[in-house]
Amino acid sequence: MHKYLIIFVICLIFFVSCTGNNDSSFSKKEAREALEPKWTLGMSQCNLGEPWRVQMNLDIKNAAEKNPEIKVIFKDAQNDSLKQRAQIEEFINAEVDLLIVSPKEAAPMTPPISSAYDHGIPVIILDRRILGDKYTCFIGADNRKIGKAAGRWVVNRLNGKAKIIELKGLMTSTPGQDRHSGFREGLSGSDVKVLFEADMKWLEPEARKEMESALARFEQIDLVYAHNDPGAHGAYLAARAAGREKDIIFIGIDALPHEGQIYVKQEILEASFEYPTGGKEAIETALDILKGKQVKKEITLKSRIFTQENIESGGEFLESYFK
Ligand code: FRU
Repeated sequence: MHKYLIIFVICLIFFVSCTGNNDSSFSKKEAREALEPKWTLGMSQCNLGEPWRVQMNLDIKNAAEKNPEIKVIFKDAQNDSLKQRAQIEEFINAEVDLLIVSPKEAAPMTPPISSAYDHGIPVIILDRRILGDKYTCFIGADNRKIGKAAGRWVVNRLNGKAKIIELKGLMTSTPGQDRHSGFREGLSGSDVKVLFEADMKWLEPEARKEMESALARFEQIDLVYAHNDPGAHGAYLAARAAGREKDIIFIGIDALPHEGQIYVKQEILEASFEYPTGGKEAIETALDILKGKQVKKEITLKSRIFTQENIESGGEFLESYFK
């Protein structure tokens, strides 16, 4: 009898512990599911070699972290269009719920992005455009407007007459094309002559090299307009090495707080035009799309100009500066 009682107690303990375990593992599973993100986003970044792109990814990460329903997977194409194409295809095969892309170049990136869109994956394009309209939403500042503002600023600053240099961004990317055409529009009707222009591909070392050639060829250079701040800084370094930096005005685009705005404060640049990354807006728009809301096809971000006069007060929006 005693023996049976012992067996009964052992069975009882075993049964209780099993049910207990089941209960706790079930609730753990439930908790895990509740924490698991509902949507996975793929982010294809064309390169992380420049501070502006590091900032874009950070803006995306910070905005995404505030929303437990989403998880973002980042891929860096290291400035290689073929690699970026392959990475977008990987995201399509992985069936991500939404794709964010900041493309390196318009033409090579159009087929893979259009294919993602045709597969029913919503696509947000950031900063550089593609060809056609197979995407859900484009977010970026107006590069033509920024270029035109830069042109008008140059004409005012140099009283309508000067000899200048234009260091262009990659001309197979749309910001390079628009910052160029807008700038020429801003200069039109003036006596400002572009002595030398070159494609520095958005890269500081390339800009420095191109500027060295310009310095060797031209005795008088009044100003350098570079399509981004790393380009303007590269040109400044070349001029400083030649002992000519004090004779030349440098202006650029991006105005990151820890890059272009610092150059303006240090009087390396006389002006920098802000080019917001759109990272935060991309996440806000992604959430709207995933929740089934209707979004605009184009979201245009505003830009400020930073000069030595207004830098301490936070710059000025182009609309009010160029009234
Ligand atoms: C970074 C960058 C920025 C520029 C943008 C244009 O790769 O060159 O400096 O404003 O891309 O797409």
